[in-house]
Amino acid sequence: MTGHLTVTDEDAARVITLRRPDKKNAITQDMYRDMSVAIDSAQADATIRCLVISGGAGVFTAGNDLEDFLKDGTSNTDRPHPSNAVKFLYSLVNNAKPIVAAVDGIAIGIGTTMLFHCDHVIASTTAKFATPFVHLGLVPEGASSLLAPRAMGHQRAFAMLVMGRTLNAEDARAAGFVNTVIAPDQLEAEARKTAREICALPTEAVAISRKLMRPAPEDLTRRIDQESHLFSERMRSAEAIVAFTAFFARKKP
Ligand code: COA
Repeated sequence: MTGHLTVTDEDAARVITLRRPDKKNAITQDMYRDMSVAIDSAQADATIRCLVISGGAGVFTAGNDLEDFLKDGTSNTDRPHPSNAVKFLYSLVNNAKPIVAAVDGIAIGIGTTMLFHCDHVIASTTAKFATPFVHLGLVPEGASSLLAPRAMGHQRAFAMLVMGRTLNAEDARAAGFVNTVIAPDQLEAEARKTAREICALPTEAVAISRKLMRPAPEDLTRRIDQESHLFSERMRSAEAIVAFTAFFARKKP
């Protein structure tokens, strides 16, 4: 474990909490690896019946760590093995347990796209969802090019994924990928209450129903692979290099 993630089993729920507040919970390759381990190891554990993903108080996540992105994207784009970020996405796709997400503050990039793999999303009134992929010269990831239009319709998905429009909690609820909007101080309790509600349901019937409702895992992994190939290509584009340089130069005098 990196220390930037906590994983606790609370009754039948595994609670995965991002814990890197000084960097707005930006997700490093090590954090992706630890999240994958937490999800994968829950699969064969019959005592775990539900997962909760939270960013804790104040921020869900500023998305992929941009320094990692830059290192990964420029040094080794044609690598034979998937990155830990892609492995994390495979873990979400292959996961068979319901996932509750608790979002306080910003959810950027994969912070929003991972929510399309969740089953119940609770947002605080401060939540903001943004996917500035195209502004960074990139393309959507995490199978969001498939799942977001499915969840909210093409036009709303285009405004978010391509135009980079930010959605607040109520917008996201209206768009259909947030269930409940709640005061920040009630968020964690509500997520646990929802997890307990799901855990109390007949486990096998939940698993079968969930599988019926979700796209086939092979369709999702195929889309993730397509997106990540294009994403890697885009990382080398002049558009991306300009955008990344601007982000890291923004605080220099
Ligand atoms: N990767 C790496 N570091 C990040 C980060 C990211 N995605 N997001 C924020 N950080 C770091 C900042 O570099 C800063 O570090 P520093 O204090 O060492 O300089 C720290 O987190 C706080 O961020 P800061 O920008 O000072 O806070 P803010 O409140 O002014 O803005 C954000 C917060 C999230 C709006 C802004 O940081 C941002 O736009 N981040 C990039 C988001 C992004 O594009 N993610 C990828 C999407 S594909």
